[in-house]
Amino acid sequence: MKRTHTCGELRKSDVGKDALLLGWVNIRRDHGKLLFIDLRDRYGITQVLFDSKILPSSKSLHSEDLIAVKGKVNERPEGSINGKIATGEVELFVEKFFLLGKSKELPFEISGKSKVAEDSRLLYRYLDLRRPIMQERIILRYRVIKSIRGYLDQKNFLEIETPILTKSTPEGARDYLVPSRISPGKFFALPQSPQLFKQLLMIAGIDKYFQIARCFRDEDLRADRQPEHTQLDLEFSFVTPGHIFSIIEEMLSLLFEKFLSLKLSLPFPRLKYADAISRYGSDKPDLRKEKKENFCFVWVEQFPLFQYNKEEKRLESEHHPFTSPMEEDVPLLEKEPLKVRANAYDLVLNGEEIGGGSIRIHQRELQERIFEMIGLSREDYLSKFGFLLDALEYGAPPHGGIALGLDRLLMFITGADSIREVIAFPKAGDGSCPLTGAPSEILPEQLKDLSLKVDKKEIK
Ligand code: AMO
Repeated sequence: MKRTHTCGELRKSDVGKDALLLGWVNIRRDHGKLLFIDLRDRYGITQVLFDSKILPSSKSLHSEDLIAVKGKVNERPEGSINGKIATGEVELFVEKFFLLGKSKELPFEISGKSKVAEDSRLLYRYLDLRRPIMQERIILRYRVIKSIRGYLDQKNFLEIETPILTKSTPEGARDYLVPSRISPGKFFALPQSPQLFKQLLMIAGIDKYFQIARCFRDEDLRADRQPEHTQLDLEFSFVTPGHIFSIIEEMLSLLFEKFLSLKLSLPFPRLKYADAISRYGSDKPDLRKEKKENFCFVWVEQFPLFQYNKEEKRLESEHHPFTSPMEEDVPLLEKEPLKVRANAYDLVLNGEEIGGGSIRIHQRELQERIFEMIGLSREDYLSKFGFLLDALEYGAPPHGGIALGLDRLLMFITGADSIREVIAFPKAGDGSCPLTGAPSEILPEQLKDLSLKVDKKEIK
């Protein structure tokens, strides 16, 4: 059964043609001798009309039944034209129909606009995703990513995948760990970001890299945080922050113009971290009031390189330990470490951090000094990051980069109030997936295979 048209395709110029449509019953209106059904697929809605000949069997059709309808395209009588939909001048007069999939009673309305509880939406996400607003968001996500790929391709960037089963990449959260069956007692970590691999790609001579990268962080969840999120991750060799800013600005202005018909004023303002704190009391200032604009981007740069962790009584990296100090502050490193500024920057939109990056350390000696300053013993840093240190000794180019939180960016573009609204299958607030029931217990045999034991006493 092959459809001749989608439900968003028929126009006045198709009147008189035979058509076969496949779609879900969106709304049915029973007018006694006539039954009208709005048939829906992801392309749109077409009104289909059943008359008395086939009416008896069509009476049993209900919302979200999947049907095939075959018939003639008719012009709608004057007065019943629907200017709100693209197919609104025509209707399909049904000669034959086939029920392809009956729908059970729905847990919530799909065609309506009423608010549905989120736990129910996540449990039946495949139904939630049928709702027009969710279809729009998911389709927009695809288009935004496609435009980003197109833009970066034009600028000579290469999209390269990096491993998911890897070693810990510290970005300030806990790691998700995967036990190895072949090496009992050893674990892979899921990447908190592709940070070290993108640096290795620069050493490999790739020069301009990007990836639509999935990142995994075990941290407390919020409306703008998920355990797995997607970053637009970039790295460049031979670069200054200004060069990185202009690529990102040009890309964002293309996206905002294309998807929101908005002209962003370029370049985005740049604020030093110290000025942001003294003027706005925040490193994520919301400049909307001051600038009187719907969207306000601002670069915040020169963050402190370190912060002091009182509990552990040690310095820790404010961004990540691969970030370069400002060149002129290197002499302060051991003397006054908390005064050292990092060559690091965040991109803030309306008071929310949507991206962050830095110029990296590309000399082994300096990288070792930083590891020591954050309290890693030589043994520790060699076992964790020895591969990076070794790579830095083979003609490593100066390099830097940035990652934008793609889910956060899409949240702004769509006007949604949580990143869960722009992710097809997000996790709930407690980090679980109501749809699949993950995380779940595993079989005793699987634990045995992995040489693991679960201490039931430890589970509350
Ligand atoms: P950072 O940790 O700042 O930098 O992350 C970059 C951007 O990713 C988004 N983000 C998140 N979005 C949703 N859920 C989360 N849990 C989450 N965590 C972060 C934010 C953030 O600005 N490797 C560095 C980048 C670099 O130095 O190039 C990094 O990951 O919008």
